[in-house]
Amino acid sequence: MSLADKVNRRFHAAFGAEPAFIVRAPGRVNLIGEHTDYNDGFVFPLAIDRAAYIALRPRADRSVRVISLDMADDQSFDLDDLPRPDETRWVDYLIGVAWALQRGGYPLAGWEGLLAGDVPIGSGLSSSAALELAAARAFYCVGGFNWDAAQMAQIGRAAENEWLGIQTGIMDQMISAAGLEGHALLIDCRSLETTPTALPATTSIVILDTGTRRGLVDSAYNERRTQCEAAARHFGIAALRDIDLATFSKRAEELEAVIRRRARHVISENERTLQARDAMLAGDAEALGKLMIASHISLRDDFEVSSPALDAIVDCANAEPSCYGARMTGAGFGGCAVALVRADDTTGFVRRVGAGYESAAGNRPALYVTRASAGAATIDV
Ligand code: GLA
Repeated sequence: MSLADKVNRRFHAAFGAEPAFIVRAPGRVNLIGEHTDYNDGFVFPLAIDRAAYIALRPRADRSVRVISLDMADDQSFDLDDLPRPDETRWVDYLIGVAWALQRGGYPLAGWEGLLAGDVPIGSGLSSSAALELAAARAFYCVGGFNWDAAQMAQIGRAAENEWLGIQTGIMDQMISAAGLEGHALLIDCRSLETTPTALPATTSIVILDTGTRRGLVDSAYNERRTQCEAAARHFGIAALRDIDLATFSKRAEELEAVIRRRARHVISENERTLQARDAMLAGDAEALGKLMIASHISLRDDFEVSSPALDAIVDCANAEPSCYGARMTGAGFGGCAVALVRADDTTGFVRRVGAGYESAAGNRPALYVTRASAGAATIDV
């Protein structure tokens, strides 16, 4: 039974009626363009076939009640008196979305529903963005406002950054809002313009979850942002997006060594991401794979956000002749890598890399072949 069918049935069991709507918002994996979004740069993610689902119906009053199947929890809140978060519970993401929508002047109405998802939590596949966009879509269904993907992405980000106080760029919310089946999206994180690009034929995208999670990721993330801002300030530009590699190379020595490495990653990663678009347009999986490998090395050595587990799984993947290229994906320090693999060897690749990583690292990874799916939408069951 699909998860959409499951939320449909469980809604029926909980509320004794059919849901009026079922909404879906996906997680994501980023092919290339890492730690560039908060530098106004370019990213190239795809929405994956794992998502958050909410089955819902409108309520006559202005309250929201949601049952989470995964958390075995039932929570309600009043739209006219939104409770401030003290610790981050799952429902605070929904409250944050209500807050951001209200601040943006969107008309809100009450609803009740049932939530479930299959984006693994904390693995770097953006289960939070999926939840935010599913919540935004639920409010859209009952509130009757216009759905603009980029605006809804900004609502999701505001919920996370301003309501919950967790810093992110715009990538995760943008791809969850605007994903397109069969395509990766080149996103200009300054203009929020998106360019859908078909994945190279006869390739598979494999997600390699190291099974490791790292607690310090938030503080390291904020530190990287501050370092990037310092480099931009030094060059007198709004963001590292505004300098090219040639100009940077001439002036790099002006920067202190750590800041220089951070900036070099971001500036070179932006160039690689634009080259990745050209490779994809040419259907050149070899070239795309090489860019992914270079991206990992830059994240490992210059940006210093990889980890021994990520390096181990990326090395196992890159040692496979059928792998065009693999790299860590997302914020880093643990979580997932992504590999571009020759489609006819996907099963063998998954088996060998799983076994190779387990014997090298001593813990079991989870490997899944994914498909590029659509962004947040109301679905039929
Ligand atoms: C996290 C953030 C994104 C982005 C990536 C790194 O996933 O949520 O906005 O900054 O890290 O590319």
